[in-house]
Order: sequence, then structure tokens, then C-alpha cells
Amino acid sequence: MERKVYKNIINGEWVSSENTIEILSPLDNSYLGSIPAMTKLEIDQALDLAKIGGKKWKEVPLKEKAEMLNNAAKILEQRSEEIAMLLMHEIAKGFNAAQDEVLRTVSLIRYTVEEGLRMQGEIINGNAYEKNSNKIAMVQRVEIGTVLAISPFNYPINLTASKIIPALIAGNSVVLKPPTQGALSALEFVKVLVDSGIPAGVITSVTGRGSEVGDYLIQHPQIDFINFTGSTEVGERIGNVSGVKPLLLELGGKDPAIILPDADLKLAAKEVSKGAFGFSGQRCTAIKRVLLHEEIADEFIGYLQAEVALLTVGTPFENADITPLISVSSVEKAKRLFDDAMSKKAKALTEFKNEDNLMWPVILDFVTEDMDIAWEEPFAPILPILRLSSIEEMIRVTNDSEYGLQAAIFTKNQEHAMEIASKLDVGTVHINTRTQRGPDNFPFLGIKKSGTGVQGIRYSIESMSRIQSIVIKTK
Ligand code: NAP
Ligand code: G3H
Repeated sequence: MERKVYKNIINGEWVSSENTIEILSPLDNSYLGSIPAMTKLEIDQALDLAKIGGKKWKEVPLKEKAEMLNNAAKILEQRSEEIAMLLMHEIAKGFNAAQDEVLRTVSLIRYTVEEGLRMQGEIINGNAYEKNSNKIAMVQRVEIGTVLAISPFNYPINLTASKIIPALIAGNSVVLKPPTQGALSALEFVKVLVDSGIPAGVITSVTGRGSEVGDYLIQHPQIDFINFTGSTEVGERIGNVSGVKPLLLELGGKDPAIILPDADLKLAAKEVSKGAFGFSGQRCTAIKRVLLHEEIADEFIGYLQAEVALLTVGTPFENADITPLISVSSVEKAKRLFDDAMSKKAKALTEFKNEDNLMWPVILDFVTEDMDIAWEEPFAPILPILRLSSIEEMIRVTNDSEYGLQAAIFTKNQEHAMEIASKLDVGTVHINTRTQRGPDNFPFLGIKKSGTGVQGIRYSIESMSRIQSIVIKTK
């Protein structure tokens, strides 16, 4: 793999900083490249230019914006293998999943452009309210200004694009703060946008550790909107310090799979295994606990163990199902949760085994509500099972969580599933499939500590634009 010194794009120029951050591979700690560690002064200059860029972008006809973004989709498609390879090295994502992430993003760009072209306003007639009103309101969607996009390590291309592209088609300029681990891939995506012909200053990248530049960026007067995906801890901090800026926050989750006695247990076991262990459990939407009706517990667990035994553990290049985690500290957190559960009489169905940051999948049975793993979010391949005696208990345990991202219900009775779904305090309920964000045109949202605001192509465009009403007299 080519090792590169990466730069930031500022007003159409690739710019370095005096200080840099080395990016190492989670696979073997090998050096992959470096990114600039920007100073506050450099950030000020970049954000001033982004504001000017935004004014130019506002004047570009929507049709031309659409052509440039479609061009970006084409370039990304052409570079998909090379960028997937970088993802494999930088975040240890398996070959198929890395390819999927890039190609999923190509589709996301094309669909976002279509939705952007369909953005329409409305005319409201004042005489519908007051019979003698001679006014009409022309209501249209307009840009908000400069959007700060902050993305997480687990989808450096897709979760970066799912913020940037809707923001751009809505007419905003964008400042991207990529995840430090994942920044090389995200900056390759930024290069795709630059190569698509987007004018200087419309897309700006700002790199540096979140703990050092984060607060400065989110409070910056040149930022008009913050679109953040990442941990609840950082999301809460952004909420506290950002002042009155509008926010879109997609945060952590503790999604349950609720398995009822009448479920197709083999199907449920397959979906739970994929949902819990895909990308080694490092997904906000991963199934992070199973709420299992005790009547069918042993039978379901038998099927689940058979599915988990099929998972391969190894490197992204072998396309293993379980690959090294982003850091050793992720394994340590999983071990803390495992030890706490074991000390309170959980039963491990697979042993806890790791080699540095490569961790084998773990299933914990007989988890109870006094154990931390019943409530906390690991970002690792460890799955707790709570055996419960009634659907009322399953609903209560779902809703007692501080999170409210998604839930999955497994039952053959659709009507019953609908009734249960209406009682769950989560953004999305899946019936007989695992929890997941896609398809990307669906609304994606968390409630409680899982976030605020709605993403998902059209919803993202709406979130990152505002209504403007122009009132005229008709006679
Ligand atoms: P993270 O540590 O919160 O980091 C996310 C982003 O925030 C990174 O770009 C990070 O930069 C930046 N950041 C860190 N401190 C900041 C600060 N004080 N101000 C502003 N930005 C700051 O999360 P992660 O480890 O990348 O991702 C895992 C977490 O994200 C999990 O909790 C997961 O559930 C959640 N997640 C949620 C969704 C969703 O859609 N609901 C999707 C993906 C992930 P640095 O990398 O430089 O620190
Ligand atoms: O990590 C959070 C992502 O939004 C999950 O997306 O369900 O497509 O894996 P996904």
C-alpha cells in the first residue's frame, strides 16, 4: 500500500500543517500515512473561506450541482477497489464489507441527487384562513449555511457521504472533520468530490484529534449547523457546548432482538448472528442484546451457537467475519463487561479469547438486569442473552434502556409484532430482520440517548435545509 502524507482541502488547495498525526493500521500497527493536526488559526482561515465558498455554491443552478455530484459518484465507482483496500488497512473492515461500503455510497450519492432535484415548495393561499386575505405565501427550502460534518471511524466513507452529499445538494457548504482513525479513507472521498468539479471552498476538510479541535469547531461562529455521528459521550458534550446551533446527532445504541415463542427460530438465529457480529459488533445498529422468551430459550440458543460456530476470525484480506477491533481498548471494555457478568453468574457459551485487538465472538447466557452488559454498549463481538418470561418483560427491558435506536422482533404473528412495535421507545422497529440503518432512503433516527433529528436521504436534505416563506399580495 502506498504511504501518503495527506493534506486538507481549503479553498480548493491541498494544504499541510506544521504538526501531523501518524495513522497506524489496527491490523499490525504499520504506518499508513499522516494527516495534518490543524491549529486554531488555520481552522479560522479555513472556515472563513468555507463561508465564502458557500456563497458561490448558492448561486450554482441545482442542475449543475446535480451534475457535479453525479460525476463524484462515477469517480467513486471507478476508485471503489482502491478505496476499499484502504478501508481494509485503516479500519480493518473485511473485503466484502469494505467494497459494500463504497458501492453503497455510490448509490447513496445518485439517489440523493434525484431527491435533491425533486425538492419542491408549496404555495399557501391566505384566503383559506381569512376570507378577505389577498396574500399568498411561496414556501421553499433553502440552505442553512456552513454545515460541520463529524463522522465516526466505522463507516469513514458512507457516514461521511451521508452527511456531505445531502448538505451539498441542499445548497450548503460543508466542513468535514473526519474520524482520526478513518481520516485517510475520508480524505480520499473528499478528493473524489474535489475531482468532480465542485468549486473551491464548497468542501473543506479539517483534521486534528476531536479532543483537541472538537470544542473549538463546534462553537465556531462560522458554523451554522452540526451533523454528528459518534458516541453518546461526545454527542452529549456537543449538545452542551455548541450553544444555539441546530444539531443532528446520531449516537450509540443497545438494540435488542426480541424472540417470541412462535418465531421461526432458525431464521432468528441467522439474523441475530449477522446483526450482532457484522463488522465484529462495531455498528451502532448491531444487535447488542437478545431478549429471549424462556419457553424457547434452549432451542434458539442451539441454533444461534451453530450459526456463530460458522463465523471466521482473521484478517480483512481473508474476508473473515470477525476482524481486529479498532483498538485494544475496545477489547478491554468487552472484557470488563464479560468479567462483571461472570462474577454475577452469567454463563459463557464461548470462551473469552483475544490476541491483541482480535477478539473471538462471545455469547453470554443467563444475563440478568444487575449486570452492566444488559445496559452498556460494547463496540465488540460480545452478545448477552436475557431469558425473560413474558412479552411485557421484554417491552419493559427494551424501554428501560437509556438508548432508543432500533429493535428487532421475531414472531410469525405480524399483528402481534405491530402491536409490540407500537409500545417500543425506539426510532425504528424491524420485524423478522436484524436491526440496520439501510436501505439508505429510509428514515434513520434515535431517541433518548441515541440521538436527535432524522437522517436518511430525503430526511437528511430536509434536516440540513430550512424553510423560507415569501409573501406577496395578489391584488
Ligand atoms: P467517537 O469517539 O464519539 O468519535 C466520533 C467523531 O467525533 C470522530 O470524528 C471524533 O474525532 C470526533 N470527536 C471526538 N471528540 C470530539 C469533540 N469533543 N468534539 C467534536 N468531535 C469530537 O465515536 P467512534 O468511536 O468513532 O464511533 C463509535 C460510537 O459511535 C459508538 O458509540 C456508536 O454507537 C456510535 N455510532 C453511532 C451511529 C449512529 O448512526 N447512531 C453510527 C456510527 C457510530 P477523533 O477520531 O479525532 O477523536
Ligand atoms: O454504526 C452505525 C451505522 O449507522 C450502522 O449502519 O446498520 O448499515 O451497519 P448499518
